[in-house]
Amino acid sequence: KRHLISAADLTRDDALLVLDTAEEMARVADRPIKKLPTLRGRTVVNLFFEDSTRTRISFEAAAKRLSADVINFSAKGSSVSKGESLKDTALTLEAMGADAVVVRHYSSGAPHRLATSGWINASVVNAGDGTHEHPTQALLDAFTMRRHLSGPGRDLSGRRITVVGDVLHSRVARSNVLLLTTLGAQVTLVAPPTLLPIGVEHWPCEVSYDLDAVLAKSDAVMMLRVQRERMNAAFFPTEREYARRYGLDGIRMAALPEHAIVMHPGPMNRGMEITAEVADSPRCTAVEQVANGVSTRMAVLYLMLGGSEPALSAGTDTRT
Ligand code: CP
Repeated sequence: KRHLISAADLTRDDALLVLDTAEEMARVADRPIKKLPTLRGRTVVNLFFEDSTRTRISFEAAAKRLSADVINFSAKGSSVSKGESLKDTALTLEAMGADAVVVRHYSSGAPHRLATSGWINASVVNAGDGTHEHPTQALLDAFTMRRHLSGPGRDLSGRRITVVGDVLHSRVARSNVLLLTTLGAQVTLVAPPTLLPIGVEHWPCEVSYDLDAVLAKSDAVMMLRVQRERMNAAFFPTEREYARRYGLDGIRMAALPEHAIVMHPGPMNRGMEITAEVADSPRCTAVEQVANGVSTRMAVLYLMLGGSEPALSAGTDTRT
């Protein structure tokens, strides 16, 4: 595919191809030389209008491991702060010869606009837009679940995934619901009614307000960050009340089946949606998710930019 804007862009076969390719890419990380020559001569631009730690760094690491040239653009410190438009920024990137633009933007729809505008020829990857979507996060989450939960063929069919918290502001939740459903998993959203989006009843998942009622039936529980920066201060839930009803602590974690994992996309509000005890427990995959993000994003860039060589061809050392 030329662009990756939404998890809904991916058919089951597309998603499985990305996840299987990511497995191959993960093997590169175990080698003494963690690099492949497949995107040599290609340019990947990381275009970030909103803060990021994990996504920005892992896309940079992914592109570099594929030997692409990487340009990092942050709106802070750029001419965006002087009022430069998305269009003029895009035209500048086009002049630099970008082959792929990885875009994070505070406005839902900005990556779609970039992909369909005709301003650039590059492939566009959505690295999180407003409250809309974060498809590569969903892919790395599915990759992590497959490693821990799936049976023969790494199949997630029938697995029960519970997504908890601030669904209203969560692009991670939306992309996960779409992708996990495509992969045959059953998703349950658990949130206070005030933190559920209008129209959630039409999403392909269950909705519950009772975390304790669903824990024992969950193969994975994904805790979402409470996104205070997107809330009117008048609607902030109090930390203690939120944690009491929707936070994951050691007692609740003990109610999960033995094989179940605890996930968090990061950054975490320790003490709010997740206690330090849970975040630091061996059942929590938050740090592993970050590592898996590099392999998954390598797979996405490799498949989108159509590396001309097999991903793991012989002679992959790029020291020459
Ligand atoms: N999970 C995630 O998107 O984290 P960052 O905001 O740090 O990129």
